[in-house]
Amino acid sequence: MTPGPAPGDWWRHGVLYQVYPRSFQDSNGDGVGDLAGITSRLDHLNDGTPDSLGIDGIWLSPFYPSPMADFGYDVADYCDVDPRFGTLADFDELLGQAHERAIRVIVDLVPNHTSDEHPWFLEARASRDNPRRDWYVWADPAADGAPPNDWRSAFPAVGRAWTLDRRTDQYYLHSFTREQPDLNWWNPGVRRAFEQILRFWLDRGVDGFRIDVAHRTVKPRELHGHIPVENIPGVLDLMPPADEPELHALLRSWRALLDEYDDRMAVGEVFLFDPARLVSFYGSANDELHLAFNFSFLRAPWSAEAFRRVVATFERLLPKGAWPDYTLSNHDNSRAVSRYAPDGDLERGRKRARMAALMLLTLRGTPFLYYGEEIGMADGPIPPERVVDVGGRDSERTPMQWDASRNGGFSTADPWLPASPEASSVNVEAQRADPDSMLSLYRRLIWSRRSRAALQSGTYRELPGMPADCFGYVREAGTERALVCLNFGSKPIRIPEEELTGAGLGDQLRVISTGAGREGPARGAIELEPDEGVLVEPSTRPEPLAEERARG
Ligand code: NOJ
Repeated sequence: MTPGPAPGDWWRHGVLYQVYPRSFQDSNGDGVGDLAGITSRLDHLNDGTPDSLGIDGIWLSPFYPSPMADFGYDVADYCDVDPRFGTLADFDELLGQAHERAIRVIVDLVPNHTSDEHPWFLEARASRDNPRRDWYVWADPAADGAPPNDWRSAFPAVGRAWTLDRRTDQYYLHSFTREQPDLNWWNPGVRRAFEQILRFWLDRGVDGFRIDVAHRTVKPRELHGHIPVENIPGVLDLMPPADEPELHALLRSWRALLDEYDDRMAVGEVFLFDPARLVSFYGSANDELHLAFNFSFLRAPWSAEAFRRVVATFERLLPKGAWPDYTLSNHDNSRAVSRYAPDGDLERGRKRARMAALMLLTLRGTPFLYYGEEIGMADGPIPPERVVDVGGRDSERTPMQWDASRNGGFSTADPWLPASPEASSVNVEAQRADPDSMLSLYRRLIWSRRSRAALQSGTYRELPGMPADCFGYVREAGTERALVCLNFGSKPIRIPEEELTGAGLGDQLRVISTGAGREGPARGAIELEPDEGVLVEPSTRPEPLAEERARG
């Protein structure tokens, strides 16, 4: 086994990495990524040496049988593998190979809705008195035949969140596409079915779940059953409100189920930007989600104050004992490099993304990386005739760029989404041996984090007295300290020597910088270029952490 965070702590102190299976590696030449492809690339993620990225766990986006109306987030069978991705045996092989490398595996649970081709929905829509009818959310049309209220789908292109089922003359609710009918979580049968699904994967050995739309699964009770239209709360342009007490009760019941097993976890997609509501999903007694995704960096403008505030607010509001987490990119949002590129200037975007990476990997909290982030992949251009996603998210899902060969080494066939033209220069192979590459920076930061208690689990303290454009903080565990300064401004910034001595880091310091060629021992004051960040830490190699020793 490779060194890694201690059991019980792996999801707090490890680095997690999202794999979008369709886009990671195609092993059978059909243009779509698959499970065997992921297995073949595990050594890139962690082979136990600093030549690999060094992550501790992967989150797999859905690979279940699906008609792919939402590329797998429309599930037709929760306990199998879509033939496009392989078989359950391929899944077991992936899980086994990952565990051999001390890589944990969490799978995506999609409880808000099923596919309209799921057998449950086929039964439900067969007749109004079918026993499965109540597993979904139905409502009578208004007097003029219109939908029961003005709720809209999360995808603007879909429009209304209601579709009329002509055979039974009632509308069903779909928070996303029409092919994704929402489940009715007031029905005890639905709850029991999902408990079985959770156990199916836990018994198979998965280390936990990423829970899709964790904040909206339980709808307001008034929607239950065949209720008169006027009782349904109609809110223009809003999906059903979150925060039903029963939603929290549901998450508590899943936590209790996970706690029956060793060392498992759940991270919820809580797509809320009100931090007070976000932290409520950890549970007041830390008894709901282990982690609730904090998506605030995805919307933060490029300023020291905006980023500082995200962290300060989360640190202040988190319930006692709860653990933060952060992310810069995922399959639903423009990639960090493109988001940070002023006027499309990808070079600046990459400089900034390097600084954001240094921040992400040194903050107190679990970092979630998105495939390709480690090489600075940008959003890929998608010609109009190749657009496939109703939610407009194709650009951030283009094939992983492994090397300069055809389709970036992703597939020998024409891929389901075009490989980015940048793949010939921005790829794993090209960056592996270049000490100044984005990949080398990620590897340095991750392996440094793995060996330092201050970075893995230490306290977080803002550095006061920083220039306005600079976000600075200190991480500390026992006598070990590390300092981070990030220059968000457009002018160079000088960190005086006294600031470094005052932080009590010791005398022998080394710098990991996001600027090329700046690494090495720290002497005197440090000058930061615009969009440059540094990690200053003791130059002595730390003793391996106890848990690393135990596993190594
Ligand atoms: C959130 C997922 O991340 C997104 O990709 C999906 O479209 C919706 N939930 C619906 O499942």
